[in-house]
Amino acid sequence: MRKVIIAGNWKMYKTRAEALEMLQKFLDQLDEIPEDREIVICAPFTALETLSKALHGTRVRLGAQNVHWDIEGAYTGEISGPMLAELGVRYVIVGHSERRQYFGESDSTVNRRLKAAQHHGLTPILCVGESKQQRDAGEAERLIIGQLEEDLADVDQTNLVIAYEPIWAIGTGETCESSEADRIIGLIRSQLTHPDVSILYGGSVKPGNVDEILAQPEIDGALVGGASLSPGDFLRIVDFKA
Ligand code: 13P
Repeated sequence: MRKVIIAGNWKMYKTRAEALEMLQKFLDQLDEIPEDREIVICAPFTALETLSKALHGTRVRLGAQNVHWDIEGAYTGEISGPMLAELGVRYVIVGHSERRQYFGESDSTVNRRLKAAQHHGLTPILCVGESKQQRDAGEAERLIIGQLEEDLADVDQTNLVIAYEPIWAIGTGETCESSEADRIIGLIRSQLTHPDVSILYGGSVKPGNVDEILAQPEIDGALVGGASLSPGDFLRIVDFKA
């Protein structure tokens, strides 16, 4: 069974105090949300411990935004799987386009990070997707298939989530047509060996478009950036009408 997952990616937003304030408002109104939806918040490293305590006993799962492939070592600025697992982190985003674009993340490091996440009991959320230029040049499909081939080499698909995030739709307000997102997610699914991998869509998901996006048959959930920062918007998104 593919799980329905709504994950918020807070990126580099929210101090601990801001994180707690958002969470309090959000948790207060979760009662009405159908139980079969997995809700995840992927917070900055500095807020993880605070959120871990605040989320204890709730249905919301904690996620991080990156993980290193080694257990420990001289890797300034990096965080390891055991460090995340110790805090009760369950999910970790790997290979987000912002990491690939601004921090030199390559398919081979993405592959190593995915395996490390799984090794330490975390569920990786692998992000793939094309830029505007690649889409305009008709290269989107080839690019995504190539990313999957390298990123998923020898990766266990029984503990994996994938997010299709077209780069041109991230933070721009320009959403991918829901039928086109559905087509690409179907293509991603056709490249996998395991039938139960949940595949999410990410890129300008908002309260106003979430119902249409999640009505698509191939789309199992959403990875939400900007709209996950506000309790009201994120609540409406997790309360999408199927
Ligand atoms: P936005 O929802 O702000 O477009 O961000 C999407 C994203 O990058 C989630 O990982």
